[in-house]
This record gives sequence, structure tokens and C-alpha cells, in this order.
Amino acid sequence: VSLGAAPGGRGVRIRVHTPGPPAVDCDVLVGHGMLGELPRLVAANVPADAFAIISPEPVAALYGEALLAAMRQSGVPAELLRFPDGEEHKTRDTWAALTDRLLELGFGRRTCVIAVGGGVTGDLAGFVAATYMRGVPIVQVPTTLLAMIDASVGGKTAVDTPAGKNLVGAFHTPRLVVMDPAVLATLPDAALREGLAEAVKHGVILDAAYFGWLAEHAASLLARSGQHLEHLVARSVELKAGVVAGDPHDQGFRTVLNFGHTVAHALERQMDFGLAHGVAVAIGMVAEALAGEELGITTVGTAAAIGRVLIRCGLPIRPPVVDAAELIATMRLDKKSHRAAVRCALPRAIGEAAPAPAGGWAHDVPDDVLHNALKRAAEGLPVV
Ligand SMILES: NC(=O)c1ccc[n+]([C@@H]2O[C@H](COP(=O)([O-])OP(=O)(O)OC[C@H]3O[C@@H](n4cnc5c(N)ncnc54)[C@H](O)[C@@H]3O)[C@@H](O)[C@H]2O)c1
Ligand SMILES: [Zn+2]
Repeated sequence: VSLGAAPGGRGVRIRVHTPGPPAVDCDVLVGHGMLGELPRLVAANVPADAFAIISPEPVAALYGEALLAAMRQSGVPAELLRFPDGEEHKTRDTWAALTDRLLELGFGRRTCVIAVGGGVTGDLAGFVAATYMRGVPIVQVPTTLLAMIDASVGGKTAVDTPAGKNLVGAFHTPRLVVMDPAVLATLPDAALREGLAEAVKHGVILDAAYFGWLAEHAASLLARSGQHLEHLVARSVELKAGVVAGDPHDQGFRTVLNFGHTVAHALERQMDFGLAHGVAVAIGMVAEALAGEELGITTVGTAAAIGRVLIRCGLPIRPPVVDAAELIATMRLDKKSHRAAVRCALPRAIGEAAPAPAGGWAHDVPDDVLHNALKRAAEGLPVV
């Protein structure tokens, strides 16, 4: 990962290197007003005859249509393909409809897809790009905080199936990622808070100073200070990119990004996805850190420190009333924990992930320890 000024002097450029084979470099540009630079940026950076902007209905109206107009005005051939909004449309059916539409419109080998939307769009349009004509380039333009700091770095694309989420997909590194924090102005509060949960995660497992910065600026981030949002996006992307660069195919250190997610995924499943992901991650981080403390892996007080920052970010930290034994059973069904014991990535302290004694970064957590941690989290932590 290397940092620099973005072309044109606006914002920050983060160069993300993914070692091969095949090795790929990807520029992530973060800056206020960067969306307006997009026609120029894609024309200069992506060798393509035509551009297909893929956007869900509401985001198409907010940003997709203006982008289409700007591209055409700059003489860049482009079409806007809309799809119905929501996770329930991140499916093979929508993939089929979009690829059929591209074929109908005559898009050929030299096509570039531009994904404009949240994580659903990035995953879906990414899978379209990974498969269309055996793979065409994609430019990711994430418009939610979660998609900016989590979904658009790492090259994972997927659709959901009735058997589970993200089960059919591909790795497809974007040619360029463009993030304009100005678009976060229209994001609902709940979605903003969800993104903050993932940023807190980055601080906990990778960077104590960033964790402190988040604690200090939580209120101003919630009030959408442009300057602070830009720093948050740039720093989180840099941190995630640093992890992904060392582990492109999700085999080793990337596991640390799963902190909070073993519990979160189980909670989401158990509540039939009625619980927002970021909220589940907030609850999951506190519960898993408590388990880490009980195992002697995590410094005592870490869970409370995490809880304090999450509360400042407007996130809940207590698990909803669920049957802990059932929840632990659900964790075993998660595709990421197919071993005998439930496995979690854990911090050693704020800012530092703990390596597992047996190698790797996933710790076996015995059922009774998890049970106790969930119980303590449900009783409420002394966080103030
Ligand atoms: N590929 C990865 O590495 C990765 C990582 C994390 C999450 N994901 C995926 O991301 C998805 C969740 O992403 P999400 O939370 O962004 O959900 P989302 O894409 O459904 O977006 C949430 C809502 O916000 C709306 N929206 C988007 N941008 C907006 C804006 N600027 N203003 C107003 N409204 C806006 C969307 O239309 C949608 O209704 C899940 O499918 C998850 O699996 C993927
Ligand atoms: Zn997550």
C-alpha cells in the first residue's frame, strides 16, 4: 500500500498492491467532489470502448443519472443499467437480467462496468464484470460508508443463493476505486453508523491511534463533517488494503478482519437478517473481546473500551435476547468456522490482533467461554 496525492491535487490516492499470480495494482482515490472527476478519470485510466454504469433505483436517481450525463457530455459512450434495490436482489436472477441487458445493448469485450451504489451493487456488478465475456474491468464507486471502507477493497464479488449469502462469486480486483465522501450526505443515519462499526473494527485490530481518533471524533463523524469522513475513509481503506495486500486470497492474516463477525454472522442468521450487519458487528466485537479476555488472550478492559467508542458512534452493544446455545450452534453452520470449536479473530489489546497459538489468526473458543461472554455482554458492560 502506498499513499500519495490524488491526480488533480484533490484528496488522497491509496495504491493497493495485490500480489499474484496475477499481481494487480489498484488505485483507490478518496476525496470530496471526486465523483465529478469520474468521466475524466475513467477515460484516462480504463481502456474500454463503452461503459456500463450499474446502479440500484434510488442511487441511480441520486448519482447515476448525473454521472451518465457527465460521461456522455465528455464524449464517453455510456449506458445506465438499473436494478431493484436491496440485498434480496443480490441474486443470480439479477445477474442474469443485467448480463442479458448488456448483451442486448451490444456491449462487447472492450466494456468497462462502473458500479455506483452500496455493497450490494459492488458485489453484484463486480460479479457481472468478473463473468461478462469471461471478465471485463470494473470501476467501483461505493456510495455507502460500509461499501467504501469494507466492500470495495479486496476484490471479492458474489451473489446470494437460497442456501446462504455470497456463496456464488469470484475474486475480481477493480481497475480503479473512486470514493467521494460528499455522497454520504444522503445516506440514512443507520447506514452511516453501520459503517462506523467496521471502522472501529479496523482500529481495534490494527491501529490504536486510529481507534483513539474515532473515539474523539465520533460526534462530528455522526454529524457528517466532510473533513473527518474523508480521513476516516482514507485511513480505513489504507488499513484494510494493507491486510489484503499481504493476503489476496483470504488464507492467512486477512482472518483478523473477521473480528466480531463470528458472533455477528450467527446473530444475523438467527434473526433472519432482521438485524443490520454493522449493528451485529458492534455487538459481536464486544462479545468476542469478552471471550478473548476470559481466555487470557485479550487484555482485560478491551471489551469495555470498544463498547465505549461504539456507544459514542450511536451503536448498540448488548446482544438482543436470543438463546445463547442456539446462537453458538448457528456459529458452527457459518462457512467460516467448519471446525469442531467455534473460531474467532481476537485482539491482544486495542490496536493489535492476537496470533493464534496453533498458527494463523483464528482462535478456538470453547462453547462455555462463548456462552459466558454472551451472558456478560447481555447483562451490560460497565463502560462509562
Ligand atoms: N465484497 C466484500 O468484501 C464485502 C464486504 C462487506 C460487505 N459486502 C456486502 O455489502 C452488502 C451491504 O452493503 P451496504 O450496507 O452498502 O448495503 P446496500 O448496498 O444495500 O446499501 C444500503 C442502502 O443504501 C442505499 N444507498 C446507497 N448509497 C446511498 C447514498 N449515498 N445515499 C442514500 N442512499 C444510499 C442503497 O440504495 C440501499 O438501499 C452486503 O451484500 C454484503 O454482503 C461485501
Ligand atoms: Zn462486516
